[in-house]
Amino acid sequence: MAEKKWGDYLRAPLTPEKFSRSRATYLHPMRVHRDLMERLARRYHPARIACLGAGFLNDIPLEAFIQEAETLYLVDWIPGIAREGFAGSIIDSKDDNLRCLLCDDRIATGRYCAAFRPPIRAPEQVCASFEPMPGRENLCVHYAPGDQPNFLEADITLGRGGGFARRLESLVARGKTLRQVFQRALAEGKRCARIEEEMEIPADSIDLVTASMVVSQFDHEPYAFFARLLAEKFGMEKMLENEEHLRPLVEQLRSLLFQIQAEGLVREMYRIVNKTQGRVFFSVEFFRSLNGEDRYFLVHEIPRAMETIAEYFQFEFESIPAEETITTFSQNEGTSVVQCFVLTPITD
Ligand SMILES: C[S@@+](CC[C@H](N)C(=O)[O-])C[C@H]1O[C@@H](n2cnc3c(N)ncnc32)[C@H](O)[C@@H]1O
Repeated sequence: MAEKKWGDYLRAPLTPEKFSRSRATYLHPMRVHRDLMERLARRYHPARIACLGAGFLNDIPLEAFIQEAETLYLVDWIPGIAREGFAGSIIDSKDDNLRCLLCDDRIATGRYCAAFRPPIRAPEQVCASFEPMPGRENLCVHYAPGDQPNFLEADITLGRGGGFARRLESLVARGKTLRQVFQRALAEGKRCARIEEEMEIPADSIDLVTASMVVSQFDHEPYAFFARLLAEKFGMEKMLENEEHLRPLVEQLRSLLFQIQAEGLVREMYRIVNKTQGRVFFSVEFFRSLNGEDRYFLVHEIPRAMETIAEYFQFEFESIPAEETITTFSQNEGTSVVQCFVLTPITD
């Protein structure tokens, strides 16, 4: 049975298999992103970093970020996902030795792992507590989260995506026809544009904000939940029967959801970034092709999101030259053309 509550939908189990699948699919293609973000971190030495939509951290250059930053926020609305990604990222192998990224003289090790016990053993570069987990060698049995990073379970869109999804539960339950539910959902979406729930990150505090590969999901998640609730209430057959004449309402709703969330994210990035020296790394999927086809489609609504960004930020092409900002990557479903931007806040 489909989850009827948004919280349960988000909380779908984070199994070790899910993590391994995500790593196997995304770690390699995300290398360009990690390299670009690492370059930014090594050049500007940000003391405070916030990764919005951190997920399993496939695209986060964790070693560079923990070496450079005193404070690191990993924010995602899926409970536990960034914690799982972090635990699965700290052990890697170097010259056939397993080493722990947290056991490094350049970082305040004890702040990152409550189980840290000196000395750091050479050449493995692990601490006295280190013990690989049987069957999952890239995990340490004793890793225990310390003060850092800050795993923040929050909506990065000013609460709008989650706020809309939570209202759907009763809205769908009370609806009599599909058309009526769509119309009420549209009205609700417009109301959600006024939600202003800020993340627990102080204003002007962050030297490097990252929002990588997040925006293109905005018309997907809350809508996918909505579609599940509808299928459960009205039945798949009825949904398919009505597909054609509901299409304009579907498009209107997805577009509205995208816009209110994109605006919420841009405003949150602007609120938290340090206005004198802060930067944002932002990446977005602009074009997509379906597997086996050589035609590329513009990803819905992205130009609108770029206009919203331009109201709050300037585009900087010095730290990442323009010719290096476009990357492509292929997955089972097709190929994506992704553009990365470095943004600086407009202050006048
Ligand atoms: C495609 S992933 C980005 C890649 C991710 N850094 C990784 O390596 O797995 C997008 C992440 O953004 C999160 N996300 C999407 N919308 C969000 C929202 N409104 N608030 C918080 N997190 C969100 C998703 O849960 C997902 O983990």
